[in-house]
Amino acid sequence: MSVINRGSLTARDRVGIQDFVLLDAYTSETAFMDNLRKRFNENLIYTYIGTLLVSVNPYKELGIYTKKQMDIYMGVNFFELPPHIFALADNVYRTMISETNNHFILISGESGAGKTEASKKVLQFYAVCCPSTRLLDNVRDRLLLSNPVLEAFGNAKTLKNDNSSRFGKYMDIQFDHQGAAVGGHILSYLLEKSRVVHQNHGERNFHIFYQLVEGGEDELLRWLGLERNCQKYRYLIQGECAKVSSINDKSDWKTVQKALTIIEFSEKDIEHLFAIIASVLHLGNVHFEASAHGYATLNSSAELLGIPSNILQEGLTHRKIEAKAEEVLSPFTAEHAKYARDALAKAIYGRTFTWLVNKINESLVNKDSTRKTVIGLLDIYGFEVFDVNSFEQFCINFCNEKLQQLFIQLTLKSEQEEYEMEGIEWEPVPYFNNKIICDLVEEKHRGIISILDEECLRPGEATDFTFLEKLEEKMCGHPHFVTHKLADQKTRKTLERGDFRLLHYAGEVTYSVVGFIDKNNDLLYRNIKEVRSFATVCILSWPDITEKIIDINSKIVATQFKSSLAGLTEILMTKDPWYVRCLKPNHCKQPDRFDDVMVRHQVKYLGLMEHLRVRRAGFAYRRRYEIFLKRYKALCPDTWPHWKGTPAEGVQRLIKHLGYKPDEYKMGRTKIFIRHPRTLFATEDAFEICKHELGKAPATSDKRRLPFPEGVVMILIETCWRGLQARRERERRAWAVKVIKKFIKGFMNRNQPVSMDNSDYLAFVRQSYLTRLKDNLPKSVLDKTIWLTPPPIMQEASVLLRKLHTRLLVRKYVRGISAQQKLQIKALTSDIFKGRKENYPQSVCQPFADTRISEQDINIKVLQLICPEGIKYSVPVIKYDRNGFRPRFRQLIFTQAAAYLVEEAKIKQRVNYSSLKGVSVSDLSDNFLILHVTCDDTKQKVGDCLLYLTRMHYTYTELLSFCSVRFDIQPGKEGFVDFKSSSESMVYRAKNGHLMVVSPHNPMHTT
Ligand SMILES: Nc1ncnc2c1ncn2[C@@H]1O[C@H](COP(=O)(O)OP(=O)(O)OP(=O)(O)O)[C@@H](O)[C@H]1O
Ligand SMILES: [Mg+2]
Repeated sequence: MSVINRGSLTARDRVGIQDFVLLDAYTSETAFMDNLRKRFNENLIYTYIGTLLVSVNPYKELGIYTKKQMDIYMGVNFFELPPHIFALADNVYRTMISETNNHFILISGESGAGKTEASKKVLQFYAVCCPSTRLLDNVRDRLLLSNPVLEAFGNAKTLKNDNSSRFGKYMDIQFDHQGAAVGGHILSYLLEKSRVVHQNHGERNFHIFYQLVEGGEDELLRWLGLERNCQKYRYLIQGECAKVSSINDKSDWKTVQKALTIIEFSEKDIEHLFAIIASVLHLGNVHFEASAHGYATLNSSAELLGIPSNILQEGLTHRKIEAKAEEVLSPFTAEHAKYARDALAKAIYGRTFTWLVNKINESLVNKDSTRKTVIGLLDIYGFEVFDVNSFEQFCINFCNEKLQQLFIQLTLKSEQEEYEMEGIEWEPVPYFNNKIICDLVEEKHRGIISILDEECLRPGEATDFTFLEKLEEKMCGHPHFVTHKLADQKTRKTLERGDFRLLHYAGEVTYSVVGFIDKNNDLLYRNIKEVRSFATVCILSWPDITEKIIDINSKIVATQFKSSLAGLTEILMTKDPWYVRCLKPNHCKQPDRFDDVMVRHQVKYLGLMEHLRVRRAGFAYRRRYEIFLKRYKALCPDTWPHWKGTPAEGVQRLIKHLGYKPDEYKMGRTKIFIRHPRTLFATEDAFEICKHELGKAPATSDKRRLPFPEGVVMILIETCWRGLQARRERERRAWAVKVIKKFIKGFMNRNQPVSMDNSDYLAFVRQSYLTRLKDNLPKSVLDKTIWLTPPPIMQEASVLLRKLHTRLLVRKYVRGISAQQKLQIKALTSDIFKGRKENYPQSVCQPFADTRISEQDINIKVLQLICPEGIKYSVPVIKYDRNGFRPRFRQLIFTQAAAYLVEEAKIKQRVNYSSLKGVSVSDLSDNFLILHVTCDDTKQKVGDCLLYLTRMHYTYTELLSFCSVRFDIQPGKEGFVDFKSSSESMVYRAKNGHLMVVSPHNPMHTT
């Protein structure tokens, strides 16, 4: 194991070191910078500090964001491969899946450091690597395409970055339990609206304006009354750089168009959206001239936003004042009118942006109410320092200050607290807590924002300078605040009279108070509000936003921003943090240029050294015992596959087996703390090998479907299955115990009256007796011996059942004797043989049958010959030869006219009933029957028949029932006598003309 570790560690450390935690001189800023530079020069822009990712903007394409690269990083352990934004994205994703909790990635750094690019890479990684379906592809496309739309409306070229985000963006990506991206939500923060009406030299307005003018179709431009020339629009040319080589407005326009349709903006929405953008451009071109009285007049009659030009004219050049009960229109000066115009333009644009974000959110919403986990991506404007810094920079830098505080809270401070909580000794690491600066800005009643609000709201003439005076009055002596007046001699030289300087955690920034009051008020004059109510464009007639813009009391920009940041902090505090710290290597947006001073400054203000110190002072890695054990339990035979003890004991056993040295780890109350990353690497390496051993499952080419490596999946499946089986077994046993207990109690109370204690037992006894009885019922009426002995509670039922069953059997027996005639035969047989032949009683139980040989068993030829006579009865017999008495198997068939002895297809003998002299049987137990045939019958060439048959009694009776004895009335005329047995003797003429002789015993019966 150790050989493999060393090998892989060497590979990891090929250029510099990949994790600053492994830096020997971890307190040295120079060593830190050296490592960063060394790697940057080799195009290795990513380096870790534990799980924090440091990224340096390469300002060139490195070819490291391909699909192939994504595949490499997908599902691979964080420390296995060189640092990468994909590794971080994958790690966050897999942690989210395995721990089913929420996370966020905070991407920070100054403007142009690569935050937006990083967030896009993360999103792309999830789009490609998460499991997907056609339906989800739709969500994925929307998530991806929300970016170009928001960038078009919210990004602009600045001096620092050609695609600078002019708003803060927090995006939640929602995942279902299978890890598929199923929805999203975007929150936007403080759009820099002032850019709509004013841009510094070298900067541009928001991209969308240029995209529309450059890329918009001729017909669209005509409809919007626009010319394809940015120079024609005042709002587009103040920075004097409408055209930028790095930006292709035409192709970006096409991308935005496509994105809008995929995000499902209706045609009407798109129409209105661009009508507004065009209106803002037109509004910018409205200018005012001073009349003879010095009042503003509008020189343009353009109809904007569907507002009639006279109303627009009045709205832009007059102010409505309420005097007592009346409303009076007070005319503006030209300067004032311009201000009102710009305010309107800013408000319209700001509102359109909010509408856009809401619309995108509508399209990303996931209506399914099942539980989701989220990964939040926070791409927020970086710390900004310009030559002249205004209200916007103040807000942006305050935002960074708050995020730094969150960072401190979540990492440094919480780290310390965690150690304390876990009962692990902690050497305090000194770090700069920027709470003091946050308080300076946001504290209630005393902070800069409160003072600004007060100044905006107070009656009387408030100006930027009265605001500055207030600041000086209240902040005097604060270590992080200085103005020209408050500064010492030396510092005063670096400050203008209208400046105040804040000593941010990231460095000193000097702000010019000019414009603070106005921008904070973000005020629209009342009649402009009314003007806007004429707008026919739906986006602008959105009530809530209008109210917010107009209601001065609730609409103090800085305060609103402050509370939205507080909201953001709350959102983030409930999630697990991950960090990407972006660094900018130079000011010139150039590749391969590493400006030491500049980078060192960023390293300092991003708190990277402090972060590293904390990671090294303490332990590089910690995990809850359950999670650590779950992941690595396969490495120790004692803990694999199941550990029965507590997770902490399991981890202890595991690390003992792995050979951790005492100074390499600490056992906390709920977590294990590992001091050096290399210890963890070694464990990971071992796990990798073990995993492949365990899970030699066929490699799947579609890793996307598996949030875990194959081996782990196998282990997971096995674990789940075993768990399920064990749970079922436990439930079964618990049930069995309950039943057995009840059974015993029931048995003990079996003779008591039915109660809760014995009802189930008695029911069981009843059921069991009936079931057994069912299988042991007597099969025939004569079978009188078998009847299952009942348990005491079934005595009565048993008697009743027995009676019922006997009746049933009798009924069945009787039914079996279908023809009534058969019963008569039975009775007749009884009359003939009862008491006269020894084996008669045995014959009684023999069932009746119409015939003993079925027609199929009689040869077809024989059937053809005798069938016309009508077969009455047939029975198999053994015929004994008259000479030598050899037995022959024959069929004896009675028809209406004769008895036949048949062998297969041959009729061996036909005995006409008329030639039948008599039938003899003995009174013994034999089954012989002799048919006496008249010998003088010339047709009959044979003599009497000696027959043996098993059903002798019935055959005899049958024969008797249909044979008559012939006699000669006179020569040539014959008569018949039928004999019948009964208890009474009678002789009479029967209906068929025969003489019926009824006698107590059969006269033909000879012995
Ligand atoms: N990983 C990267 N590879 C190549 N180029 C990059 C990378 N990251 C950033 N860049 C380049 O740097 C430019 C600025 O990056 P990005 O827009 O992400 O900065 P930002 O930190 O979001 O700045 P801002 O705060 O102004 O929005 C990009 O337009 C791109 O040209
Ligand atoms: Mg950006």
